[in-house]
Amino acid sequence: MPHSMMTKQNDIAAALKPVLAETYQLYILTQNIHWNITGPLFHSVHTLTEEHYTELATAIDEIAERIRALGTKAPGNFAAYQELGTINNCDEEASGNEMIKALSAAHAAVAANIKPLISRAADSGDEVTADVLISRVSVHEKAQWMLNAMVT
Ligand SMILES: [Fe+2]
Repeated sequence: MPHSMMTKQNDIAAALKPVLAETYQLYILTQNIHWNITGPLFHSVHTLTEEHYTELATAIDEIAERIRALGTKAPGNFAAYQELGTINNCDEEASGNEMIKALSAAHAAVAANIKPLISRAADSGDEVTADVLISRVSVHEKAQWMLNAMVT
């Protein structure tokens, strides 16, 4: 493999590490809300967040394995995710509305951080990674719509 191609692969793999970290941070935030939400929306949010974290678990594996396919080790510990990611968790005591808004904002942040990587991956000839990232943005935008529809 030519050196320039390996460098590009390493660049894309490096750019995917924060995506993995933030998807994991979003996963634990989603479970936090699944477990701790209270109030009239309990059942709706409890059910929706279970669908979300199940999907996120699959995505985490897909992103990590894409990093491996690009020839780089995938970070697999919480300390690395804390360092690489920017998604905050929320207080277990927060109100139901606050939790829903925090989760929607977290989906928006993950999507915003992924978007510039799509053209970067495509421009470097890595359409497979671009495709993975496009489907991630689609999931995060759908989640935002559903969560925003629950609160006023
Ligand atoms: Fe559960």
